[in-house]
Amino acid sequence: MCGICAGFGNGNQIMNVIRGLKELEYRGYDSCGLAFINSKKNDNLEIVKCVGGINSLEEKVKENFSSEIVIGHTRWATHGKVCEENAHPQLSFDGNYAIVHNGIVENFEELKNSIDVPFLSQTDTEVFVSLIAKENGSTFEKLRKACQKVVGAYSLALLENKSKKIYLAKKGSPLWVAVNENEVMAGSDISVFSNKFKNAFCLNDGEFAEISLKNVIFFDKNGKKIEKKCIPIENDGFSYDYSSSDSFMLKEIKEQPLAIRKTYLNLCVSQNNFDIKNFKKFKSFHFIACGTAYHSCLMACRFLQKFCNKPCEASVASEFRYAENVLSKNCLYVFVSQSGETADTIASAKLVKDAGLSIMCVTNVPYCTLNSLADFVLPTFAGKEIAVASTKAYTAQIFSLLIFALKLAGLNINSILKNFSLNFDCEFDVEKFCELVLQSDKVFFMGRGQDCITSLEGALKLKEIAYLNCLGIPAGELKHGTLALIDENSLVIAISTQEKTKKKIESNILEVQARGGKIVLISNIEHNINVAQKISLPCFEEFLMPIVSIVPLQLLAFSVCQKLGFNPDKPRNLAKSVTVE
Ligand code: M6R
Repeated sequence: MCGICAGFGNGNQIMNVIRGLKELEYRGYDSCGLAFINSKKNDNLEIVKCVGGINSLEEKVKENFSSEIVIGHTRWATHGKVCEENAHPQLSFDGNYAIVHNGIVENFEELKNSIDVPFLSQTDTEVFVSLIAKENGSTFEKLRKACQKVVGAYSLALLENKSKKIYLAKKGSPLWVAVNENEVMAGSDISVFSNKFKNAFCLNDGEFAEISLKNVIFFDKNGKKIEKKCIPIENDGFSYDYSSSDSFMLKEIKEQPLAIRKTYLNLCVSQNNFDIKNFKKFKSFHFIACGTAYHSCLMACRFLQKFCNKPCEASVASEFRYAENVLSKNCLYVFVSQSGETADTIASAKLVKDAGLSIMCVTNVPYCTLNSLADFVLPTFAGKEIAVASTKAYTAQIFSLLIFALKLAGLNINSILKNFSLNFDCEFDVEKFCELVLQSDKVFFMGRGQDCITSLEGALKLKEIAYLNCLGIPAGELKHGTLALIDENSLVIAISTQEKTKKKIESNILEVQARGGKIVLISNIEHNINVAQKISLPCFEEFLMPIVSIVPLQLLAFSVCQKLGFNPDKPRNLAKSVTVE
């Protein structure tokens, strides 16, 4: 679960590749490195690696090195602990080849035993590159033969000592390459290309590329040259200023009103290609995703059931892909993903496609693997989301799926949506809220209906970036177990945005208080009840409230994280995009 980047061209490519790697840090950031040909030292292959993010690597290479031929990597550890030995690039046993790799070699133990060479790291990637070195023939032939033996996924860039070529190979994990008059760049996604490239080639599974100065040649799995069509790339809104010291998470929380406005304009005002008539024939809907995107799926089920009266189901992708699913052609399978690169979601989408059924993808990144599989794409308009904790992508997903449900139901409530898109804001004071959380030993989130989903998402945010062991539950489930944990050191955050369940949540609050637990109530409803703190939400239509009520919880997670001295953008053990199973 990593990012790879390569640069070949006139001038120093090291900073070019470093810049590309910064764009790819969302794929992992526990260690990183570069391999390059040093023309000042007899075209020797050199490697620089470090534990930590790309800024540490930048410090290490700054002004010290120059090269026109560079490959680079940012890692999220799968095989082997986080240390320099396990960071990429990995060198072959003979020191002739360096490789950067995104993916997993599933049969690496077997391959390791088949080649009798020493290994310095615990990585599957070192086995891959030594396997290449052991094969016979030209470098390209060695690579091709090794790829035939590897079971698993890879996108990789290979560099040979003293050579003037970079080789690419792709299976499973994404890989793009772009050429202009001065240079060639390759990377795990198009964000590495900056504004210097207007078009890019997307490698398909089994394909290879050979990069030389200002040129790329593509090959199929048999090593036969092939022509490929390039795709125009638009970088608008998908490149960030990494020099800013502000946290991306807070910036992205505050960008939510803009994302909502953009979604409204694109889906409700502009003429777009999204024709709702295509979806009338489906009798049911099954939403599939991971993490925060799964919470959007739960919300989407509520919208489609409420407005369209259609049966709906939501599944976690890692469960769906191994479940005994009864698939139906009358059902639309909807895959929701900010990145469009989440391995379990992609595998689930492939499973449905292979059964010959229709799939729709709801994604925030236009050129992603999930979209390449989709029969229909419902885009979200959140703009690039960098912080690992998903915030604006979540609310944009909910709003897009809500508009989808309203359109499918034939309801024209544009004025309500317009009013919301103009008046929704993200200003909440969470200072006291934050203190209450920090004073408590145990933190719970509870709600009913749509507020239960918000509870799950609020708890996920707090776990993810503040490392607090908390739990989100349906409030009605309190008496079925969780109440046993409630005492005077507990804080329960109750969300209440629905008149229908107002009295019910009040009873749940009293049950908590009777056991000494404190309550923070987040609500737009008049509740005649004493609580430790009430956060008042502005009033919009009930079905819009999940977009509003999550905001104080996002801000809470951010503040607690900051107070505890953690980095909100790069939580430990996580990556923005989970590209391995
Ligand atoms: O890119 P995706 O939306 O497919 O990612 C799914 C989850 O990995 C993601 O939402 C994760 O749960 C977030 N880090 C939560 O904030």
